[in-house]
Amino acid sequence: MNTTPLTRQPAWQKLADHHREIKGRHLRDLFAEDPERGERFAVEAAGLYLDYSKNRVTDETLKLLFQLASDCDLSGHIKAMFGGEKINITENRAVLHVALRANRDDTILVDGKNVVPGVHAVLDKMGAFCDRVRSGDWKGFTGKRIRNVVNVGIGGSDLGPVMAYEALRHYTQRDLTFRFVSNVDGIDFVEATLDLDPAETLFIISSKTFTTLETMTNAQSARAWLLKGLSGDQAAIAKHFVAVSTNAEKVKAFGIDADNMFEFSDWVGGRYSMDSAIGLSTMLAVGPDGFREMLAGFHEMDEHFRTAPPDRNLPVIMGLLSIWYNDFFGAQTVAVLPYEQYLKRFPAYLQQLTMESNGKHVTLDGKHVDYQTGPIYWGEPGTNGQHSFYQLIHQGTRLIPCDFIAFAHALTPLGRHHDILIANVLAQSEALAFGKTAEEVKAEGTKDDLVPHRVFEGNRPSNVLFADRLTPGTLGKLVALYEHSVFTQGVIWNIDSFDQWGVELGKVLAQRIIPELEDKAEPELKHDSSTDALIRRYRKNR
Ligand code: F6P
Repeated sequence: MNTTPLTRQPAWQKLADHHREIKGRHLRDLFAEDPERGERFAVEAAGLYLDYSKNRVTDETLKLLFQLASDCDLSGHIKAMFGGEKINITENRAVLHVALRANRDDTILVDGKNVVPGVHAVLDKMGAFCDRVRSGDWKGFTGKRIRNVVNVGIGGSDLGPVMAYEALRHYTQRDLTFRFVSNVDGIDFVEATLDLDPAETLFIISSKTFTTLETMTNAQSARAWLLKGLSGDQAAIAKHFVAVSTNAEKVKAFGIDADNMFEFSDWVGGRYSMDSAIGLSTMLAVGPDGFREMLAGFHEMDEHFRTAPPDRNLPVIMGLLSIWYNDFFGAQTVAVLPYEQYLKRFPAYLQQLTMESNGKHVTLDGKHVDYQTGPIYWGEPGTNGQHSFYQLIHQGTRLIPCDFIAFAHALTPLGRHHDILIANVLAQSEALAFGKTAEEVKAEGTKDDLVPHRVFEGNRPSNVLFADRLTPGTLGKLVALYEHSVFTQGVIWNIDSFDQWGVELGKVLAQRIIPELEDKAEPELKHDSSTDALIRRYRKNR
């Protein structure tokens, strides 16, 4: 085991020196020096083509980044994750989202037990249930078939399901309506159910812990809404509520039948759970075959990550490039820009995956890091972003590495739309990299005083991820790609990418404040003077 602190490791120090040498080099020059660069700095695997040539790297940069990965024993960590070791050390848990997409006859041991048969048993149960709902065989309490599915969950129990539903909408059964309720702001529930008939509505209460305040509050409101609409008969619950959770006891206590519960295990992190039973809404939307196709895509990327050498390994390359900008160039954010409207929720999904995983300030052994960890991920679909924040990416003072995502085929071609869309993604990546010099601007006849305003410095890095078309399988590959890129970064930073203690304090304080807002009697407030004053103001005005 390498116990040298990260910033004192030879490869890190060499990267720091190397950064000083090449940070002034322009992509224009790097491309001019190597006519093959565009194809040399590209790799294709599992049907995803990654062009990383427009990054501010040379062969030497990559060599040093791969050396760093090797010194940090990335391959050993990959083996440990796939081998079911308890790499989530602060919760003493294995990290096995890869087991969710393992083949039926694979063996993955946790505490000596093969977990794969259990995964497939749940998938089979989900499949049987989804077939019944989709065909109309599963009837609601009054005998009507289910037309509406409402997923109630938050964080990993919402973002993955919403993202996947939107991403795979093309493949969904259109006579079913899907809604997603996450926020404890009552408007979320009210708007989601406003036009629904309770007799035709199925709620999926999705919560790994089945204790999350928002989800439990929404679940109670859902039960009240349903019973009110179905003359208060408790027997209706069994026909209109199913649960997805690791906590059978709490599910039972809520009143949901064990038969209507779909389980997963504590070795699946919330933000890594869209391919577990948490994906029940996805399976209802696209059908069991579509869901299995998605899992096969995940698995293909898993196998690529597990077996490909670092210099051909998409997640490793993407993860190391992220380290390069985050820790050496001081870039604070990464923009994820899908040129595919169906992926409109992909950046929001990635925010939890990346930032809950790698937003950590101490190493595995509890020491404060002396380097930056997880960058801020954000983004919007192209071309909308072009008419909003791209200005800053092109001409602002910050370096914002971009991941562009594009597909060769539109799912529903419409005139010239797709060619225009793709022309835009290629144009953006080109413009960011090469920009426009003052000479070029002048040569266009621009007045001297306007020239500085119209110069594009360029040298702004981007990846282009290119695939054939957005299918369930492609989506699985794309998500697994980012999961493993996050993993790669976490290994280098020597942090626990699988816990999320940072969300706890706010939850505890909220539990304390709720009665202080609701109590009839004036509470004795012992917060800071700001919080106390705000509580008093709210009580006075509510
Ligand atoms: O608050 C963060 C978090 O714990 C996430 O990690 C998780 O995805 C989300 O809450 C929801 O948790 P649960 O599925 O247990 O309701």
